[in-house]
Formats: sequence, structure tokens, C-alpha cells
Amino acid sequence: MSDYIKMNRREWFKQAFTKTKDASLKTTSRAAGSLADISETLKEYKWETVANDRDLTDDRPKQIMFQGKSVYLLRVDGKYLGFQGICPEDKQLIFWRAHSKQFYCPSCGSVYNLDGSCQQDENLSLTTYPARLHDEAIQLRVD
Ligand code: FES
Repeated sequence: MSDYIKMNRREWFKQAFTKTKDASLKTTSRAAGSLADISETLKEYKWETVANDRDLTDDRPKQIMFQGKSVYLLRVDGKYLGFQGICPEDKQLIFWRAHSKQFYCPSCGSVYNLDGSCQQDENLSLTTYPARLHDEAIQLRVD
């Protein structure tokens, strides 16, 4: 005789509920795993390769086009960085000062730190782009 026939109604409901709950938990955790995979894929999708590490010299910015904008790519003290290359107001190309590791605007004389902040005016800033080394590729993050 089958186990289902031997058990009373209460036991049958209890077993059926447990099986349903287990199946539901497995499905939920599988779905959560898929979402985590998708999330990881999307995170990777946000990084765009812009140069090879061999193309870069320490403390010497390389000018590139990124997302239609002029951006300096930089490796300073082993860290990578993307830095807005043109002043948004004056459309003036900014310059790198290697001795102080800062950017300088020849039009207004403003000096910019590597975090994009302006030394003379706290209301001014230039955009920085998170960068990373991935294998030998330098990548900037698209936000
Ligand atoms: S004029 Fe814009 S940073 Fe100098």
C-alpha cells in the first residue's frame, strides 16, 4: 500500500506543504542566483576598455575620447583615473602639471586636484571617471 493511502489527511497536508515549500525555496534561490549573475554581468557591462596599459606612462596623461568627451587617462602612484580634459564653460583644454600632480586651466588659472576639486573655488570641479586595470586593459566606468 502506498504511503499516501496509509497517512491521514493531516499528515498528507503537512507533507504536501513541506514539499511545496522546499520546491518554492529552491526556485526562489535559483532565481536569486540568476539575478546575482545578471547583476554581475550588468556591473561588468559598465566598464569600457579605452587603452592598453602599455600605452600609458606613469604621471603622464594620455588624451582619449570617452563617451564623446575629451578625457585624460592617468596612472599616478599605481592608481588609474579618468579626468575631464576640457573646461565645460570656456571649452579650454586643461593641462597637466607633473611636479604638483594637478591639472591647470590656462584660461582662468584654476588648479584642479586629482579628485576633480578646484583649489581656488570650492564650487568649481571637473569630472573624474573611475578607472581600473583589467588584464592589460585600462577601463573607465560608464555611469
Ligand atoms: S575657464 Fe573653465 S576651468 Fe578655467
